[in-house]
Amino acid sequence: MEQVSSPEDAQVRAAADRELLKACTDECLEHERRASSQRDGGEPEPTPTDGDAAWWPNPGEDPLGVFDQVSVSYGDVPAVRDVAFPVPAGSIVALIGPSGSGKSSLIRCMNRMNDLVPSARVDGTVLYRGVNLYAPKVDAIEVRKRIGMVFQKPNPFPKSIYDNVAFGPRVLGFQGDMDEMVEHALRRAALWDEVRDRLGSNAFGLSGGQQQRLVIARCLAVDPDVLLMDEPASALDPISTAHIEDLMRELTPEVTIVIVTHNLQQAGRVSDLTAFLTVEVDPEDGSIAGELIEFGPTEQLFNRPRDERTEAYVSGKFG
Ligand SMILES: Nc1ncnc2c1ncn2[C@@H]1O[C@H](COP(=O)(O)OP(=O)(O)O)[C@@H](O)[C@H]1O
Ligand SMILES: [Mg+2]
Repeated sequence: MEQVSSPEDAQVRAAADRELLKACTDECLEHERRASSQRDGGEPEPTPTDGDAAWWPNPGEDPLGVFDQVSVSYGDVPAVRDVAFPVPAGSIVALIGPSGSGKSSLIRCMNRMNDLVPSARVDGTVLYRGVNLYAPKVDAIEVRKRIGMVFQKPNPFPKSIYDNVAFGPRVLGFQGDMDEMVEHALRRAALWDEVRDRLGSNAFGLSGGQQQRLVIARCLAVDPDVLLMDEPASALDPISTAHIEDLMRELTPEVTIVIVTHNLQQAGRVSDLTAFLTVEVDPEDGSIAGELIEFGPTEQLFNRPRDERTEAYVSGKFG
């Protein structure tokens, strides 16, 4: 099997990931700044969805998400092409496949995170609850309130543990009991017992595994419908990894989860459905990009794969 990703590629990707993480954090902090200046008396800035409350027309729609012939490219270079699969409400869907097969590019379509990646272009349709997420009237910020994202490297904000969790509710003008809200989110993220005595401490003082659960608590505080997790445990020790996996199971079915993982055992343990991607050469123009090879129930995909490439990957012959 040809080696498709060199150490240089990995470095370039790691740098791109750091930029995305920074862009995402900056965007959130800027959003907070604007929200608080509005509360101090300024006029609220209109969003593209103002006056269009029906942009989320069918909360009960299932499948909750649909990828329909989705392709992502960077500049003129295709990264992943013509991917189609559903995300049933309440399920955990795993994306697996070798490095460079487009897993991150795809998962980032589901909350418009590719908007923050310079040069990224998305074609095809990504439906969420029946709404085309890339339709002009859809506000990416609104999307990201409902569809939270957890990255490989935890990105707590430079604030206290408490303020990290209170962040989203404050931006949204939450009027209820904030202490209760913070405790509830930290409990749901299985972090409360470890931090209850130091809520005012800086989030950067937490271990990597705790920071990741804090980021999950921060997402949960705005009551998301979906959590996207891009290799959420790949930088964590086995105990923290087990925490995250237990947590995922507890969050469903209220929250639907899409997870990218390069850890096949993890996909096998936690997911209901699995999408296997690999890098293929287009027979027409010779271009190389990720393609979806097989999608199905995790148990079937691992034990009775339909495609020999899936078989080779899940049995550890390449990757
Ligand atoms: N920000 C980016 N800028 C340019 N190319 C990118 C960027 N992110 C990913 N790519 C390219 O897109 C392809 C798919 O990458 P990615 O979606 O990160 O795959 P995976 O998550 O499966 O490793 C790779 O060839 C990668 O180099
Ligand atoms: Mg990736």
